[in-house]
Amino acid sequence: MATKKKYSNQWMVKLRRIEERVERLSLLSQLSQILNSTLDHKEVRRRAMEAATQLMKAEVGSLLLVDEEKNQLYFEVALGDKEETIKTITLDIGEGIAGWVAKEGKPLIVNEPEKNSRFFKGVDEKTDFKTRNLLCVPVKVKEKVIGVLEAVNKQRGEGFDDEDLSLFSSLADQVAIALDNARLYQQLDEMFFQTAESLADAIEKRDPYTGGHTQRVTSYSLATAKYLQLKPMEMKLLRIASVLHDIGKIGIEDQILRKPERLNPEEFNMIKSHAKMGAEIIEHIRQLREIVPGVKYHHEQINGRGYPDGLRGDEIPIIAKIVAAADTYDAMTTDRPYRKGLSKETAIMELKRCSGTQFDRDVVDAFIKASEEGEI
Ligand SMILES: [Fe+2]
Repeated sequence: MATKKKYSNQWMVKLRRIEERVERLSLLSQLSQILNSTLDHKEVRRRAMEAATQLMKAEVGSLLLVDEEKNQLYFEVALGDKEETIKTITLDIGEGIAGWVAKEGKPLIVNEPEKNSRFFKGVDEKTDFKTRNLLCVPVKVKEKVIGVLEAVNKQRGEGFDDEDLSLFSSLADQVAIALDNARLYQQLDEMFFQTAESLADAIEKRDPYTGGHTQRVTSYSLATAKYLQLKPMEMKLLRIASVLHDIGKIGIEDQILRKPERLNPEEFNMIKSHAKMGAEIIEHIRQLREIVPGVKYHHEQINGRGYPDGLRGDEIPIIAKIVAAADTYDAMTTDRPYRKGLSKETAIMELKRCSGTQFDRDVVDAFIKASEEGEI
């Protein structure tokens, strides 16, 4: 009878362990999905640290990334008020446990750090934190170590075991994929933006009187937008719309575009067509479709006297309203062959004078605020 009870107890223990394993695998799968559902590098890093803590039931999870140029590891840690202190700490590749893991590309469990000669005490000393045990795994992309994932202080039990190590290594693989995807996306995004800048530059090269105009309009627009609480996505669209706002000038004849004298009404109408033409050009590119209104309507006015469609007030998208103010301000403050540019103060007064008629009131207020803050 006693033997039977003993077997049944053993069976219960085994069953409990299997259940725990299933629970942890299911958690790993959930965390992997969360990790890979964003392409924002910073967000991936934050989620990786959270996942490390949660999956390992640890006190702290941290992610260290490799700085190839300096041959060092630097911390990305979620540790409440100690975060800033820890971020100043770097480890040479090979130094400390994490440095060893990065150098060798192998995982390591350290359950008695004080007895381990590799253990780097600097972090504990600077933060008043006591490391009792530590699990450290490499984060690899195509066999190359790009970082190290750490779980510190297991909340239950004596320390980390091989099962933890295996599970944590799987998480590190998911972190590596998510970080690499985010990096590639960032690169693609940057390349896309640089292509847009090159296009704008090509137009500027044709028009000798506007040197640096695109860059300035972009800078003024972004400075203004900071005081209008635009969403990150809108900021991104604004940046590209500012860069490409005059792309339609590609279709304007040189003799009009480069004419040093004042334009006659017919020539001015030709120039005006650049807003619509710009929209037509970028409409073909799916990724640029969202900035079409920003480009098309950057010469509209609140009172309906702008072009190409004579839109009024809130019919004009916010991005176009911002570019309009930045564009006009730059046109006013730069020299033209037939007139000298206005001073900054006079141009600001002019924006104020036309606030609510030509320009949006909120945009002008934000523009002035940015200018007062020295950002314009
Ligand atoms: Fe324009």
